Amino acid sequence: MCGIYGYIGTDADAASVVVSGLQKLEYRGYDSAGLAIIDANHNLKILKQVGYVSELNRLVFKKSKELIAKVGIGHTRWATHGRVNKANTHPHIDCHKQIAVVHNGVIENYRQLQRQLIEKGHRFTSQTDTEVIPHLIEEFLAEGLKFRQAFNQALSRLVGAWAVAVISELDLDTIWIGRHSSPLAVGIGDSQLYLSSDARAFDHQVGNIVFLEDGHLGSLSVRRGLKLFNLKGKPINYTLINKNGLDKIEMDKNGYDHFMLKEICQQPQVCRQSYQGRIDFKEKKVVLGGLFNYNSQIKQSRFIGFVGCGSSYHAGLLAEIIGRELGLSTFSLDSSNFGRADVDKYVLNNSSLFYLSQSGETSDTLNALKIIKLETQALNLGIVNVVGSSLARQVKAGVYTRAGIEVGVAATKSFLTQVLIGLITAIYIADLKGMKIKSRQRLFQDLKQLPNNIEKVVGLSKEIKQLAKRILSVDKFMFLGRRLAYPIALEGSLKLKEISYKFSYGDKLGSLKHGPLAIIDKDNLVIAIVFKHDTDLSKNISNIHEITARKGRVIVMGDVNQSSLPRSIEDFIKLPSLSTAWLTPMVAAVGVQLLAYYLALLLGKEIDRPRYLAKSVTVN
Ligand code: AGP
Ligand code: GLU
Repeated sequence: MCGIYGYIGTDADAASVVVSGLQKLEYRGYDSAGLAIIDANHNLKILKQVGYVSELNRLVFKKSKELIAKVGIGHTRWATHGRVNKANTHPHIDCHKQIAVVHNGVIENYRQLQRQLIEKGHRFTSQTDTEVIPHLIEEFLAEGLKFRQAFNQALSRLVGAWAVAVISELDLDTIWIGRHSSPLAVGIGDSQLYLSSDARAFDHQVGNIVFLEDGHLGSLSVRRGLKLFNLKGKPINYTLINKNGLDKIEMDKNGYDHFMLKEICQQPQVCRQSYQGRIDFKEKKVVLGGLFNYNSQIKQSRFIGFVGCGSSYHAGLLAEIIGRELGLSTFSLDSSNFGRADVDKYVLNNSSLFYLSQSGETSDTLNALKIIKLETQALNLGIVNVVGSSLARQVKAGVYTRAGIEVGVAATKSFLTQVLIGLITAIYIADLKGMKIKSRQRLFQDLKQLPNNIEKVVGLSKEIKQLAKRILSVDKFMFLGRRLAYPIALEGSLKLKEISYKFSYGDKLGSLKHGPLAIIDKDNLVIAIVFKHDTDLSKNISNIHEITARKGRVIVMGDVNQSSLPRSIEDFIKLPSLSTAWLTPMVAAVGVQLLAYYLALLLGKEIDRPRYLAKSVTVN
């Protein structure tokens, strides 16, 4: 996580440009923020502030007279090494206070480097892994290397993940940059250059963008522009990408209390934009131009896999179940729990894999892709939201979810569109393989009606808020569901815990009697997700009886008729019922999102920036 922003140009307001860039990157981490500039007297100045970027902004405003500068770099932190305090806030500097470094990622060999540097007399002032970088540069400069070589040597010694930006009094008109595993993009304007962890943060001054790839180093200067080279110092050519193709990060809540609520309420419209041009309702078929060149390879694949973590894993689980019901041999992998030892060569060599990711920068998922690329012949494809993200650039082809910018850390519209694209991709592949899809007519009618049905659930906000009020004192939640409802149980549980900080866990409804039933008591509340199309509806009912028979508290959320439910349940949220089972999870997703949102709201939580989390997990 964490966000890096930098500016070098002819305007002497580098500090405010950097801070406004950091504000758009705050979704990536918000423990603390800092910046470095080279002022008009060629002195390096550092500002650091624990807390949100707005705190740093206040400091910049107060000291604005001392911060006249044409070059600056900044960082909003999500701590991995070292507590959240001022000393550990980036930028970090060398012993002579002449070199400033900001870093996104984890330096895995930092202890060994730190030991070597301390033996050479370097003094460390933080507990971070990052601080080895300025001292390494200082050390190589002391050996007589020029700045570029010293920078190059320093980065060559790092093991782990890094996106780095460096400025120094010793090299006034340059920002040095480097990328390995953590994202970094350069924005090119008219005699100004910018850098950012997320290209969508660039403003209108930027026309073209360059995405750094792993092992790319470079320099930004007004005189020489952008120069890229590899770790061996060999110049690298780069491709300019027009910024117009990217979403912009809008920091406007449009009147909503939180980005999360705005993004939940956007879902009907987002559904339409996500399947626009991809579903031919007249012909009742799916058209995925992004996959077209790989049709024959996909058609020949024995297996179809879905890879992701967190909410993206839950979306992959749903795609696996729906794909199987369409007749495909599907599986899903949780990339946060995947390593070389988990490679099943037989399956993966015969698979088309879809990597699901909102950010396209999740380290776990990128690592899984790296391992699978190295070890197997799988066809690697993407279902990604952020255009031009690392994952989008590293797979062969894919389908963008088109959810638009999602600022709230809790995935909502991005999850829904992943499920939607997962469904239509499964339909597309089933058609490629000549499988007969039962009740096709109703399926496509339901798809067309999906935005309206999601709108109806958004319309239940008041009822769901009332429910949240009634259960506000509950401290332990169990979200339970069977088959298509199970990933929604997991997702509902994740939403609730990540923004309300209440204990919650998701499980299969049918698994209770195999152990978890023992924890049923009046202090925890079961949220059972029940779909009427579930082939085992009667089992759901008896599972609920098993809970209430033990004085367990159960609330049901689903599209079943209340008359079919045990009278002993505590509450019931009736969802719109669709004729196709495969779309019900998306309708239920909105229900559990709203429940989590209103519980967190009533608890006064910091909903868009939950503690300890960040929107894009670019570290392992
Ligand atoms: C979900 O609300 C969280 N934001 C988190 O689990 C997220 O889904 C996960 O980190 C994967 O992120 P990605 O979709 O950007 O890869
Ligand atoms: N590892 C560095 C730190 O803990 C950077 C973390 C990040 O990428 O946010 O400060």
